[in-house]
Amino acid sequence: NLIMKSAQTLGVLVPNLGNPFFGMFIRGVQAASREQHFIPLVFGADHDPKLESYYLQELIKRAVDGLIIASASITSEAIETILKKNGIPYLLVDQNGGPSLDWFRVDDRQGGQVAAQHLLDLGHRQIVVVMPDHPTPNLAERLTGFRQTLATAGISLETDQVIATPMTKLGGYQATAAVVAQHPSAVFAINDETALGLIRGLHERGLSVPHDMSVLGYDDIDLDEYVVPKLSSIHQPVVTMGEQATTLLINRIHNRRQPGQNVNLPVTLRRRESTAPVN
Ligand code: RIB
Repeated sequence: NLIMKSAQTLGVLVPNLGNPFFGMFIRGVQAASREQHFIPLVFGADHDPKLESYYLQELIKRAVDGLIIASASITSEAIETILKKNGIPYLLVDQNGGPSLDWFRVDDRQGGQVAAQHLLDLGHRQIVVVMPDHPTPNLAERLTGFRQTLATAGISLETDQVIATPMTKLGGYQATAAVVAQHPSAVFAINDETALGLIRGLHERGLSVPHDMSVLGYDDIDLDEYVVPKLSSIHQPVVTMGEQATTLLINRIHNRRQPGQNVNLPVTLRRRESTAPVN
């Protein structure tokens, strides 16, 4: 019989399909869905709140069995009026720190701390951060952890040392002038895409990484191993995130009344070639 009684579909919304981080997340979602005979319908919202609510509405119209929302812009109001009202199980992950019965987190505070400690251990004191202007809660948390650890060495980031730019390769590239103007010995880019764009910009200005400036990324996407220099990064267990988010959601679909389930995963430093001791 080719037609199943229940469609067993999951809706999955991510912020940006162009970022390999979310490709890896979806790989995890697919693997866990396959095992449990669900099929994911995946959409990228291009960081656009309108697109995001469009896909959300369409997924709900098509009566998906549950939703994984890793994109940021869904409001608590939409959660109340669309998801809760329609009784659709959902899970908010990564960029979405909003309220949900089951939740799934990667420790961003710890990630920021590990990042700062790595740069301090290499002797860096002149440090800048590159990140979006209106960070999602997980990114704000990452910055908080970073600041906390710098503070233990008596360093505080001034306003000009937190450089605002979109969290993309182009955003990193476009931040180059503002970074160089601060004369840092090290940069913490809030994600790897930003780091890769920035390294390109630095290279075009004749600055070599890590000799003239160290650059540390975040996410540990597969590209990190293939660029020159290989990118040092903070590893997020993103395939596991996709798998576990899916498993939590499917458990909830099968058992609506069970108590809330929580998962909190740690991150680790992947030291490669883009960070080195201060000159
Ligand atoms: O690269 C995408 C970034 O945004 C990741 O660091 C992830 O945690 C998300 O919030």
